[in-house]
Amino acid sequence: MRLEGKVAVITGAGSGIGKATARLFAKEGAKVLAADYNAKSGQETVEEINKAGGTASFLEVNIGSVNDNKRMVDTAVNLYQRIDILYNNAGLGGPTLEATTEENWQAMLDVNLTGPFFACQHAIPQMRKQGGGIILFTASAGGMWGVSKARSPSYAAVKGGVVLLGDCLSRLLGKDNIRVNVICPGITNTALYDSHFYDAQGAAHTLNEEEKKAFMAGFSKNIALGRVGKPEDIASLALFLASDESSFITGESFLIDGGRL
Ligand SMILES: NC(=O)c1ccc[n+]([C@@H]2O[C@H](COP(=O)([O-])OP(=O)(O)OC[C@H]3O[C@@H](n4cnc5c(N)ncnc54)[C@H](O)[C@@H]3O)[C@@H](O)[C@H]2O)c1
Repeated sequence: MRLEGKVAVITGAGSGIGKATARLFAKEGAKVLAADYNAKSGQETVEEINKAGGTASFLEVNIGSVNDNKRMVDTAVNLYQRIDILYNNAGLGGPTLEATTEENWQAMLDVNLTGPFFACQHAIPQMRKQGGGIILFTASAGGMWGVSKARSPSYAAVKGGVVLLGDCLSRLLGKDNIRVNVICPGITNTALYDSHFYDAQGAAHTLNEEEKKAFMAGFSKNIALGRVGKPEDIASLALFLASDESSFITGESFLIDGGRL
């Protein structure tokens, strides 16, 4: 029970990394507010946790909206009287250079960076009042290193912003006993990963199972551990960073990609 008595808000908890983390945090004793804009999948996460004996509630939010981020923090405090862990995880994949428009650029910026910034701004006074807290972000390996031709420079630029936001906040908040760290996954087998493919014209393209298997096998050859990530791999790192075991770690960005980069 490494998070016993803690209250955790996790965005994007309806799927992939957020879902795996919500399950793990709850198993380790945290009360979880699972936030997502997909009510069906978010509710499923919560039902699964509660059925297994954990404590979780669902909140439907659009993380791209500043007001929804504030509402999310307020809801956690109203429900559970505190907020110990804010995990800004929800994210949108990005289009190729050619397919980037003002509209999809803005949508990605809103969800991946603007919303998380304001969630932190709103949660920090509460954490200060409590005497500390943990802020985590999911950025991306693509936010630390340049991306290849098939992938998205706009996504990488925005995720690079998340890395620097984490760095700045850690410097500002250390004196308040608020630790801030950033998780930078490489390719991880989730729904977002599936949507990360584009045809020659740059239009989004979802792979069928066979194409996906072939892609994964080819991609895995460039990974030292020989496979892409599982959501549970990332959740384990999030647990370590959310627990007291990492009590002297702040301001770090953790690449977790099986040894690809
Ligand atoms: N999968 C990868 O290969 C990979 C690699 C690096 C970083 N990431 C990052 O990991 C994070 C989690 O993604 P994932 O891979 O688990 O994807 P996913 O698609 O499985 O899960 C993302 C979740 O976020 C939710 N979401 C999306 N937009 C939202 C919004 N506006 N408001 C509220 N919820 C919203 C979705 O409904 C979904 O449940 C993202 O920030 C993503 O950029 C993923």
